[in-house]
Amino acid sequence: MRIILLGAPGAGKGTQAKLITAYYHIPQISTGDMLRVAVSQGTHLGLQAKAIMDSGQLVSDEVIIRLVEARIRQADCINGFLFDGFPRTLPQAEAIRANSIFIDFVIEIDHVVEIAVDDEEIVKRLSGRRIHLASGRIYHLSYNPPHIPNKDDVTGEALIQRKDDTEETVRERLRIYHHQTKPLLCYYQDWQLRGGPDAPCYISIDGHASVEEVRRQIFAALEQNKR
Ligand code: AP5
Ligand code: MG
Repeated sequence: MRIILLGAPGAGKGTQAKLITAYYHIPQISTGDMLRVAVSQGTHLGLQAKAIMDSGQLVSDEVIIRLVEARIRQADCINGFLFDGFPRTLPQAEAIRANSIFIDFVIEIDHVVEIAVDDEEIVKRLSGRRIHLASGRIYHLSYNPPHIPNKDDVTGEALIQRKDDTEETVRERLRIYHHQTKPLLCYYQDWQLRGGPDAPCYISIDGHASVEEVRRQIFAALEQNKR
């Protein structure tokens, strides 16, 4: 099973990614999580990406595509994977679809799942988000609080607030989403309409419901459209 999760920042991609990957036993490939780990470790990639991420801009397509290419060559991806936060530009989508200079093999995607949430709800969600950096586990102060305030449920380690979760940066990330990533919704819908054996199945889910209800709808759609 190869899945792309699409949606605005804060739509719930990471939250649902954890549930989907646990059920289907596939790895979650979150470019945002990979970049945050690189930043925290102070690697060359992290140093390149930090200021860009903190200001809500996108890291270059070239850097992201090389990062993903190296990741999907690892053995745990053999039976599938879930992309969370990738692709988010047309060149990234094209790199998956065609034999490009970056990825020298075609990656056939089975499902593209869009989680649709409006901008004002997203601003509310991101201001209350806390994460466990090492695992990428996601909490919310009111919607999904940890058992012990500010501690990760599994390790007991401290939770952090992402630097890009201030209202000003969230609004900038939403602006970039509408401009650069939203065209991918039409890109994948058109591809499904045109058909062809490699066309992914497009699923759109209303992401305003509870985490559990969104999860239920995603699983029902994936099972109904099993390939
Ligand atoms: P990334 O980490 O991917 O951030 P994002 O796409 O902006 O999305 P988020 O992680 O903020 O939100 P999410 O949809 O995962 O929501 P979550 O489940 O956490 O990217 C960060 C940065 O890295 C980018 O800005 C860019 O600079 C760079 N980058 C990454 N990938 C890149 C790429 N491909 N190309 C270029 N640059 C790239 O949920 C949010 C909150 O809501 C949580 O608190 C959660 O508990 C809560 N919540 C979730 N679902 C619900 C629900 N149904 N009801 C109520 N609350 C909910
Ligand atoms: Mg995320």
